[in-house]
Amino acid sequence: MSTFPQITVPSDASSLPVTLPRLLEKQALGEPIVMVTAYDYPSAVAVDKAGVDMVLVGDSGAMTVLGYESTVPVSLDEILMLAKATRRGLTTPFLVGDLPFGSYEVSDEQAVTTAMRFAKEAGCDAVKLEGGGPVSVARAKAIVQAGIPVMGHVGLTPQTATALGGYKAQGRSADAAERVAREALALEAVGCFSIVFEAIPSAVAEMIHDRLTIPVIGIGAGPNVDGQVLVFHDLLGIREGRGAKFVQRYADLLTEMAAGVAAYADDVRTGRYPGPEHGYAIAPAELAALRERI
Ligand code: KIV
Repeated sequence: MSTFPQITVPSDASSLPVTLPRLLEKQALGEPIVMVTAYDYPSAVAVDKAGVDMVLVGDSGAMTVLGYESTVPVSLDEILMLAKATRRGLTTPFLVGDLPFGSYEVSDEQAVTTAMRFAKEAGCDAVKLEGGGPVSVARAKAIVQAGIPVMGHVGLTPQTATALGGYKAQGRSADAAERVAREALALEAVGCFSIVFEAIPSAVAEMIHDRLTIPVIGIGAGPNVDGQVLVFHDLLGIREGRGAKFVQRYADLLTEMAAGVAAYADDVRTGRYPGPEHGYAIAPAELAALRERI
């Protein structure tokens, strides 16, 4: 018997594209906003069919699909390629592209140029950048002023995990939580349309959420925010290891994929595959004529 929660594909998934006003409407109505990452065409088709509201081409793809040790080394061109493939698989969700480390910090001009590439080349509806310090806030402001919606990201920000002391929860003291709150408020003040809270205590997330007007999407930030985001490979079990405390697994696809490929390998090695039903036929006369020639 499966140990995973029951999985159903909603039959009432809206066929209308999700827009910024629709996201705000959901927030106002108290309807949880569902966000998930995707990095390629098949993952995009899957999340589209599932009827999610928002899709993030996260720089987590550096680790989940490109095999890097962290999100730091991934290049802008690599993430753009993932974003373009994802776009091709989506019909309705709002698509957010994650600005990779080193693609926006240097100057406002660099940030706007990078964000433009996500919008023009990959068809992203918005971009996300990490951090709420003066540099990130300035870059968010510049991109918003250039006409591209920006999603903020505070708390645990993996691109700068080394500076934060590792991949661990943030905002666990009054001082640290106040800093997260100031960063979130600063990002809202420069026009971010939404913000991700990653790995902060639920009570802190709730308190800061109540002081913001924009939708807050949590990952390891408890239930009292406007929506949730999880990494595709975490929730479907397409990676080894347990993952962060906040991950809920809904499938064990890595095991299933390995089992499928092992069954194929076994069939090839034992001659069960390919069978007659997998081959193409040729008329006996044609085959006889060929035999005369070769
Ligand atoms: O890159 C990513 O997947 C993210 C989410 C965890 C929010 O930034």
